[in-house]
Amino acid sequence: VAAFDVDELIASCAAAQGEPQPGLAVREILERLVSRPADIDAALGSATSGGMRSLYTSPDLTILHIVWPPGVVLFPHDHRMWAANGIYGGAEDNTYFRRVADGIEAAGGAELRAGEVALLGPEAIHAVANPRRAYTAAIHVYGGDYFHALRSQWDLDGRGERPFDVDALHATLAAADDRYREG
Ligand SMILES: [Fe+2]
Repeated sequence: VAAFDVDELIASCAAAQGEPQPGLAVREILERLVSRPADIDAALGSATSGGMRSLYTSPDLTILHIVWPPGVVLFPHDHRMWAANGIYGGAEDNTYFRRVADGIEAAGGAELRAGEVALLGPEAIHAVANPRRAYTAAIHVYGGDYFHALRSQWDLDGRGERPFDVDALHATLAAADDRYREG
């Protein structure tokens, strides 16, 4: 088995775009990948601080490396494109939401553990939390441009819909990271 190579991941996800259901194809790619956490660490570095960075961005495909700090709670948001979220270290709790008259309300959830991949449809709205006293490492793949697509975020109470703000995501990660480091 070859070591994890970012260029190979990009190429295989790009090839999956030609499949009838690209999200399902990418989920299978990620399921194989997250079963090899040591190989991912060797390529990307071990997860010792929170943050999000793009491994690849194009109009129809985005690949993110995300490290969730302990205790972080990311506000609800949608994607308006399929999203395949693979966890290779720690845990990622997802709360799902549905639209109601005055905002959104919680409607179920999923507790993702290392080695698991969640596939979210374009309509999905979720909030993400790291419930553990350890960093959570994830690779998220999206069927579009995560950074430039028009989409929404909400306050934690499900109100205040407004355009998704990637700076707010970075700030949320940084604040949780600071809290954890300060103990
Ligand atoms: Fe998300």
